[in-house]
Amino acid sequence: NKLFGRVEGALEQGLLPVEVFCDDKVFRAEMDRIFTRNWVFVAHDSEIPTKGDFVQRRIGLDQVIVIRDETGKVNVLLNHCSHRGSEVCHEDQGNAKHFKCPYHGWVYKINGDFAGAPHFNDAYAGSLDAKKWGLRRAPKVESYHGFIFACLDENAVSLKEYLGEATWALDAIFGLHPQGMKVMAPPERFIVKADWKSGAENFCGDAYHVSTAHIAAELSEFIPGIREVSTIARGYDFGNGNSFIGHELTQWGPTFEMWAYPPETRAQFDLSGFDPVQVDMIKNTPPTIGTIFPNFSYLRFPQPATPGGKPVPFTNIRMWQPVSPGVMEMWTWEFEYAFLSDEDRKEAYLAGQFGFGSGGIFEMDDTAVWEGIAKMAASPWSRRAGAMLNYQQKRGGPDPEWKGPGQFHKSIYGEYLQQGFWRRWLREMREGDAAREGSKQ
Ligand code: FES
Ligand code: FE
Repeated sequence: NKLFGRVEGALEQGLLPVEVFCDDKVFRAEMDRIFTRNWVFVAHDSEIPTKGDFVQRRIGLDQVIVIRDETGKVNVLLNHCSHRGSEVCHEDQGNAKHFKCPYHGWVYKINGDFAGAPHFNDAYAGSLDAKKWGLRRAPKVESYHGFIFACLDENAVSLKEYLGEATWALDAIFGLHPQGMKVMAPPERFIVKADWKSGAENFCGDAYHVSTAHIAAELSEFIPGIREVSTIARGYDFGNGNSFIGHELTQWGPTFEMWAYPPETRAQFDLSGFDPVQVDMIKNTPPTIGTIFPNFSYLRFPQPATPGGKPVPFTNIRMWQPVSPGVMEMWTWEFEYAFLSDEDRKEAYLAGQFGFGSGGIFEMDDTAVWEGIAKMAASPWSRRAGAMLNYQQKRGGPDPEWKGPGQFHKSIYGEYLQQGFWRRWLREMREGDAAREGSKQ
């Protein structure tokens, strides 16, 4: 709690204490207060299309099975046998009729209910109340544009309310065609010795790092012009730590309209349900990168699949999965609109992987610097000196003429969006603490 006071005082001055990026106590509090109370992305409808389909996912440190049951409903079950605590599922994905625990053989239905146990009558002689011994089930599971989120807090607001004004951007990103998005492959995963928040705050508004950290993309002529890309970067801030970077891509020429989807694809998008501000955004300054608090991020940018190739938009979804203080697992999915041809989808996949796969030209740049942040956040010298990080960039500010929801920043030089992320983080850490205290009474 002393730390929260320091963070609050620091944020008022555009500063942040270094230890938030690598600290045992902070990490434990985040797992307890943020990941058990907020809506966390777990899977997309297209990953589990038919009944019995499941994937194994995580909500913070909780290992969960996301499964479509007999009725078509998606359940999010804790992968934790009620008998003696073994994991009941050891597969990443598949199709199941039931789950049988490998230890003593208790069996669970795909909706999580207890279904039976070996030698049931002899062993329990009718004394076991089957209703009480199913798998733990997340109280809230909802989806938006097929993206399934779960929340472990039964008192939480609905997903739509949670997403708030950010739905306005999500609709523009994922809702351009009635068939929606489809996943290309299981998520790629790799461990990075960096804090999960380094990724989340980078995606929520950091266009400033591109011309330095990603200069290799310019030098290799992979994306000529990247050195100046922050000059066409804009900010969409929907409050509560949910924000997006937009790029005014049409400044690069008319072929870059609508993320540079080719004209045949654009012609199939249906813009009729969007308001004029949204239409202008979609065409000229589309959201390219963003974060929904806490750890869901998005990226769609026109980029070649090979050096010198024509720019292709790809849709990359990622999660910054906390593992331990200063360590995360990065999960990256490639998605694309379901109606696109296999060839177009494949090209988008290659473009996404070439830039942002684990060996992608951008990915390595970011992870290298984020690892440094976590390593130095544990520095005894820095901590003893009360070192603060700087979030004081302040050019521009919200555009007073903006007609859309939230706030729009004509210049990304100003760390308003990152500050918003940290204010939300602080609020959740405090409210989570209060909720925990309240539930004890
Ligand atoms: Fe699962 Fe015993 S621990 S059946
Ligand atoms: Fe980057």
